Amino acid sequence: MSGHGTPIPMSSHRSKGLNGTAEVPGDKSISHRSLILGALSVGETVITGLLEGQDVLDTAKAMQAMGAEVVRDDDGTWRVHGVGVGGFAEPDQVIDCGNSGTGVRLIMGAMATLPIAATFTGDASLNKRPMARVTDPLALFGAQAVGRSGGRLPMTIVGAHDPLPVRYTVPVPSAQVKSAVLLAGLNAPGQTVVIEREATRDHTERMLAGFGAEITTEDTDEGRVITLTGQPELIPQGIAVPRDPSSAAFPVCAALITEGSDVLVPNIGLNPTRAGLFTTLREMGADLSYENEREEGGEPVADLRARFSPDMKGIEVPPERAASMIDEYPVLSVVAAFAEGQTVMRGVKELRVKESDRIEAMATGLRANGVEVEDGPDWWIVHGRGQGNVPGGATCASHLDHRIAMSFLVMGLAAQSPVSVDDGGPIATSFPVFEPLMAALGADIRRG
Ligand code: S3P
Repeated sequence: MSGHGTPIPMSSHRSKGLNGTAEVPGDKSISHRSLILGALSVGETVITGLLEGQDVLDTAKAMQAMGAEVVRDDDGTWRVHGVGVGGFAEPDQVIDCGNSGTGVRLIMGAMATLPIAATFTGDASLNKRPMARVTDPLALFGAQAVGRSGGRLPMTIVGAHDPLPVRYTVPVPSAQVKSAVLLAGLNAPGQTVVIEREATRDHTERMLAGFGAEITTEDTDEGRVITLTGQPELIPQGIAVPRDPSSAAFPVCAALITEGSDVLVPNIGLNPTRAGLFTTLREMGADLSYENEREEGGEPVADLRARFSPDMKGIEVPPERAASMIDEYPVLSVVAAFAEGQTVMRGVKELRVKESDRIEAMATGLRANGVEVEDGPDWWIVHGRGQGNVPGGATCASHLDHRIAMSFLVMGLAAQSPVSVDDGGPIATSFPVFEPLMAALGADIRRG
């Protein structure tokens, strides 16, 4: 499991130009949900394109521990024989979700309205992250949670014997919290209503509808009101997981800052609740185009083409866009270092409670590499140095955070001196083929 292994130091060196096609893995959010919703259906769900990163593999194991059969065919197709809504068995071992906040929070939701208990743990990063944001609403259904101080893992959830439906306004912009409440609502009678003031990724809503649940979303003055009718029979599905825009961000940003680059990243899901980074990059003057725009499985999809963009300018990122690019701020801050002028990022408090405190991790590493950064509780500003003027030369701590490690490795491709990370091991949680994929484009990224 990530975070428990020997650290893998890595370094990244100025590279000539990235060229070719980057076939990034399946979407992490949709992969977790495919396994969980498959496990909650009666019959066989067949999944192609599943992300085989450690986070998702840990969710697959958890679904097995709760009674679903989860098998992988030799060709990479996954089959889930579900137990139905309300059918989870009580696991006889601790559920280890590794590095994955999405995994643990969604699974807690899915079991919280069943008369079973489960104990959850994770790696050193996950065991620091706040869980009260999920256990507070789960308590309204009648579930109980006992964990470490500050609402941290390891934690035991005792599910509700007679769950009540809930009406809940999510206090932080979080798709994980919204999804935990909706998954808990599946086994409660009547209607569970979740209200979010800011729209966050809507894969759970789309997929629940696809699995046959009665679910509606209405935009009102209060925000987005999502209403789910409990105790449906979910119908198993065939799911083709689109490729992950959050993983596409790394080869795209690498191409934008590396002289001589022209990279095609095909088949990327461009759900508007996920595509904020690409809008931002285009506003900065990136040569980034959408080719072959189409719809697949109800999601907008396109091939992204990114070319070296020497004249990017810093911008003020609209705070209302934050949720649609929340995982992409680390790599955006690297692009911002190579742009002219300031890139201002506000309304991003959530970055402080991800796999690491991402503002702190990036600000420290950027400064060590010669880039000026200002930061406050929910904002940060990167002072761009312009193309060719980023010194580099430092080793950065990745803090068990895959996106921090990959962001600094992208930076080293165009910095004056190599950039190193103390541990590239966590990259395997979301992007296990990062190294060969980047090498095939011409990136000089080395172990050691
Ligand atoms: C995710 C939601 C986001 C995101 C995470 C995946 C999801 O977290 O950062 O990588 O799949 O629901 P929050 O819900 O905490 O914002």
